[in-house]
Amino acid sequence: MKEDKSHGANLRPATRLVTSGRQYSEHGIVNPGVYHASTILYPSADALRAGNQQYTYGRKGTPTSRALEDTIAALEGGHACKVTPSGLAAIASVFMAFLDTGDHVLITDSTYRPTRTLANGLLKRMGIDSSFYDPADPEAVRKGLKANTKLVFTECPGSQTFEVQDIPAICTLAHEAGALVAIDNTWSAGHYFKPFRHGCDISLQAATKYLVGHSDCMMGCVTVSEEHWPRYKAAYEEMGLFAGPDDMYLTLRGIRTLDVRLERHMKSGLAIAEWLRGLDEVADVLHPGLPGAPGHEIWKRDFTGACGLFGFVMKESGQAKVDAFLNALTLFGMGYSWGGFESLAIPCDVTTYRSATTWDRDGQLIRLHIGLEDAEDLKADLAGAFAAMAAA
Ligand SMILES: Cc1ncc(COP(=O)(O)O)c(C=O)c1O
Repeated sequence: MKEDKSHGANLRPATRLVTSGRQYSEHGIVNPGVYHASTILYPSADALRAGNQQYTYGRKGTPTSRALEDTIAALEGGHACKVTPSGLAAIASVFMAFLDTGDHVLITDSTYRPTRTLANGLLKRMGIDSSFYDPADPEAVRKGLKANTKLVFTECPGSQTFEVQDIPAICTLAHEAGALVAIDNTWSAGHYFKPFRHGCDISLQAATKYLVGHSDCMMGCVTVSEEHWPRYKAAYEEMGLFAGPDDMYLTLRGIRTLDVRLERHMKSGLAIAEWLRGLDEVADVLHPGLPGAPGHEIWKRDFTGACGLFGFVMKESGQAKVDAFLNALTLFGMGYSWGGFESLAIPCDVTTYRSATTWDRDGQLIRLHIGLEDAEDLKADLAGAFAAMAAA
């Protein structure tokens, strides 16, 4: 392995996305190789007994996994990273690593729905208690902390309702109470929010979204501070987690273009959010990057950009009208993901699972993912859908 010249603190984020992990490449080939490995041979009985060679067994790491993990750790600004087969597996691994029977975890009410299902299912069965706090109430974390709270789980902004939480303030409160703070940092992709600089101990992402960036594989990642790394690494290894080499390669390839992709997602997303705000059919636009939108001031203080995912609330909520809108879209697909090159629209009904007090809007919430198409074509598609809704 060559000397790592890519992690220099003097390099700017966009440069590091391009160069990081290159020390794992060989023969001058710019990309690290895709190692399909389970067995790794030892040269002698002495080496076998010592067990300290750099690569020992497929699941324990290959040049492919290390190149990706080093790159994500540098992106998030944490000590080290491990990858998991999906974003949800990353979330579950954090709970498994940092919670024991009898502990309590305090989770934002705006969290990704399967995170809540996991807390109410597997964690409950294991004797781990959970409760949910209102992400829009600055006092909610203080009120929700218990003597046995070991972890505060944030998602910023919430990926359906886009509340921006005051992460530094939450970290201060949690740390005073002896709890760690984890963030689901998928929205910023680690590029526009640096969790460790703001006090978090653990940052995870559904790398499936912007890191992969092309809607063609599943991946998760967990980055941890130096202090808490040994506990996470031990649990990760005990659970036998790893990910497939081709998917790891695709994720690293996606990361190389993250800076330019996100710039385009942000520019088009803001333009469309601004345009939606001016429409009679729209009651509210939930885009943290939009001046005057909920959470904008905190976003401006803590984030350096926005991705292409945001929501808007229609004045309308009748199913026939909403269906007419959705069915008339031709460029926006209907699908439960985001972060790829393609635009998506889905209706969200958060009232079916969230605490009633944290979401009280009447109109239909639509979540948009603004992809890499031309923003004018996307606006025209949405305008056509509003016209179809009026005619329905
Ligand atoms: C905010 C957020 N976190 C985690 C996940 C889970 O990621 P994956 O689908 O890779 O398991 C998702 C997926 O939609 C998500 O939106």
